[in-house]
Amino acid sequence: MERIDKIISKQTYYTRKETKKLISQGMVYVNGEQVKKTENKYDENNISLKINGKEIEIRKHIYLLLNKPKGYVSSTEDKSQKTVLDLVPEEYKNRNLFPAGRLDKDTTGLMLITDDGEFAHNILSPRKHVKKEYEVTLDIPVTLDIVEGFKQGVKLNDGECKSAELEITGKYTAKVTITEGRYHQIKRMFGCYGAKVIELNRICMGNLYLPKELKLGEIKEATEMELQKIQERS
Ligand code: URA
Repeated sequence: MERIDKIISKQTYYTRKETKKLISQGMVYVNGEQVKKTENKYDENNISLKINGKEIEIRKHIYLLLNKPKGYVSSTEDKSQKTVLDLVPEEYKNRNLFPAGRLDKDTTGLMLITDDGEFAHNILSPRKHVKKEYEVTLDIPVTLDIVEGFKQGVKLNDGECKSAELEITGKYTAKVTITEGRYHQIKRMFGCYGAKVIELNRICMGNLYLPKELKLGEIKEATEMELQKIQERS
C-alpha cells in the first residue's frame, strides 16, 4: 500500500505538492471515489486513477530506449559530468530510473533505462548469455589474428573473457559481439592486440537492433515487442 500523493507523483509529472493541491480541489478520484486526504493509501497496481477528469494509466515499470551520444556518463548522478538521465524527459523524473548496464562516456548507441531491477539483471548477467553487438573502429587494421584470439577468449588482467565473435567489415572496422559487460571490456580486449578503439557504437542487445528512427540523444519508450527481443538469447 502506498500513499496517494506518492503514487501520483510516480505515475505522472505532478509533484507531491501539486498533488496535494489537486486533492484539496477535489480533482482526484480513485476507483470512482473522490480522494479527500493525501494520507490515503492504496494498492498502486490495483486502482483506477482519474485526475481532473482524465484517466491515468498506472504503470509498474518504465522501459526507455536511448541512443546514447558521446559525452554522457552511464550513472544516475555525477557531480561534474552530464549523465544519461539528463536526457530523460521530465515526465519520468519521479521514477527511480537507472541505466541497465554501462557504456563508456565516449561510446554511443543502444541503452536501456528502466526502474525494473529484475529485468535489468536478466539482460546484464553474463549467465543469461544475452549478447551485445558493437560496431568498432580501430587505429590499426583488423586482422584474422584478432578474430581468432577473440574466439578463443581474450585473457584480461581480471580473468579470461568468454568467446567473442569478431566480424571484419572494413580495413579498420569490425562488428564485435560479447555476452559479458566488464569494465572497458572491448577496449581492453583490443588493447591486448596493440589496437586502440577510436569509435564504439552499440547496435544490438539480445535480438533488438537500435531502432532506425532513434537518432543520437533521442529516447523512446520500448514496445512490448522490443522488450521481448532485448531479452532473447540466440
Ligand atoms: N566495452 C567498452 O570498452 N566500452 C563500452 O562502452 C562498452 C563495451
